[in-house]
Amino acid sequence: MDFRTQTLAAGGLPAVAADALLVVMVGDGIPASLDAPLAAAAKEAVAQGDLVLKAGRSLYLHRVAGLKAARTVLAVAGDGSAKAFKAAVAAGVTAVKGLGVRHLAVACAGSEALGEAHAEALVAAVSDAVYVYRATKPSASEAPKLERVSLLCAKPEATVLQRGLARGEAIANGVTLARECANRPGNVCTPTYLAEQAKALGKEFGFKIEVLERKDVEKLGMGSFVAVAKGSEEPLKFIVLRYNGGAKTQAPVVLVGKGITFDTGGISIKPSPEMDEMKYDMGGAASVLGTFRAVGELKPKLNLVGLIPACENMPSGTATKPGDVVKSMSGQTIEILNTDAEGRLVLCDALTYAERFKPAAVVDIATLTGACVIALGHHHSGLFTADDELAGELQAAGRQALDTCWRMPLDEEYDEALKTHYADIANVGPRAGGSITAAMFLKRFTAKYRWAHLDVAGTAWKSGAAKGSTGRPVPLLTHFVLSQA
Ligand code: BES
Ligand code: MN
Ligand code: ZN
Repeated sequence: MDFRTQTLAAGGLPAVAADALLVVMVGDGIPASLDAPLAAAAKEAVAQGDLVLKAGRSLYLHRVAGLKAARTVLAVAGDGSAKAFKAAVAAGVTAVKGLGVRHLAVACAGSEALGEAHAEALVAAVSDAVYVYRATKPSASEAPKLERVSLLCAKPEATVLQRGLARGEAIANGVTLARECANRPGNVCTPTYLAEQAKALGKEFGFKIEVLERKDVEKLGMGSFVAVAKGSEEPLKFIVLRYNGGAKTQAPVVLVGKGITFDTGGISIKPSPEMDEMKYDMGGAASVLGTFRAVGELKPKLNLVGLIPACENMPSGTATKPGDVVKSMSGQTIEILNTDAEGRLVLCDALTYAERFKPAAVVDIATLTGACVIALGHHHSGLFTADDELAGELQAAGRQALDTCWRMPLDEEYDEALKTHYADIANVGPRAGGSITAAMFLKRFTAKYRWAHLDVAGTAWKSGAAKGSTGRPVPLLTHFVLSQA
């Protein structure tokens, strides 16, 4: 898709030549600056009750008198924020979905000026609205014909908006890659598939890719990671991605993504309903790949490392049993009381592996706990860190990217829950505060660097009628990485 700005003088909307014109109206009335033919159409629609001037509402109009564009959509944005603008654009694009629109022009009326964040939000909304999954269903409804989106603006804004569009496109490409990986079923998106995706990215953008096999991680002493993979016949992979955009001496940011390509629970097997959704349990890994995709395009001046411990969690005659004790790469022994708490078991060894990079900061991303979904629902990802500064940076990145996280507690008191007679640490505590004890478990492996954990169990995918990967938190992570350059 081609996104670009198009400069327009005041009063120029009637002459815009596009297949459809989307006018985002900011405020709670019809903007006074709106061009006469549009103002007349909007006024009439409001009078007839067809258009309600409430945020999120939109109306499709065919051949408005006095306009060159054959199709018009009026979309109401509550305020002038990027978030409201994004919602209005999403409603507008949905209104022309399935029509013969190849070129869509988008204008905003009623607010002072659009900024970089609006341009970025526009791309996110359009890209999200036109995405169709076809990998295992080629007959899926045809994608919209949309090829080109022009953001109409005044001349002085154009440079800034162009920058926003470019960043939005890079992030949207990363989000789409993450969605494409996570939406693929477990029999297609295997650890080997994830490794192949990483290698393909490496080839396209010049990343260094290394894939460790079972014998390699055994040699490193990753007894915890291996304990999860043991029940599966699908070979495990430990994927290392490196982007070198900074000076050699510059400490890298490290992203660690949980890559469980299917989570049955293992011997502590999960109930059947909705178990298919555990194909999304590699959402953290997908977000690392997606962020690398965005970084490859934006080329910030910093060094970035991605680590993906990938395997299946399966029950079998060779699977780990509840009560088994294993030794992690850190030397700490772990009593695996519940084989369904496998995410932390693969992450802890990756977190120890991260030490060798002497990182500036490490962020892990994982669909880690059902408890996080209970705590926060599906809007914010859970953020866990003892580092206030890092927390602030990740929260700010989330706000800028419209991909937010909410900070959760991580006090030492919660560590009690992980004590056991049989090993240095147990892999589960009681049900209460389950997302926090999971984070406390990971914290034990992160003493050597600044660290934060994102639990994306509630945000990485949607259930129900709109079932599918969201590609979150690629936007948050990309903004965070850019902020560290
Ligand atoms: N992948 C799941 C977490 C999950 C469950 C995410 C449901 C989204 C929806 C994780 O591996 C898991 O099974 N966690 C357990 C931990 C428990 C055994 C302490 C959970 O949340 O139930
Ligand atoms: Mn599990
Ligand atoms: Zn899991």
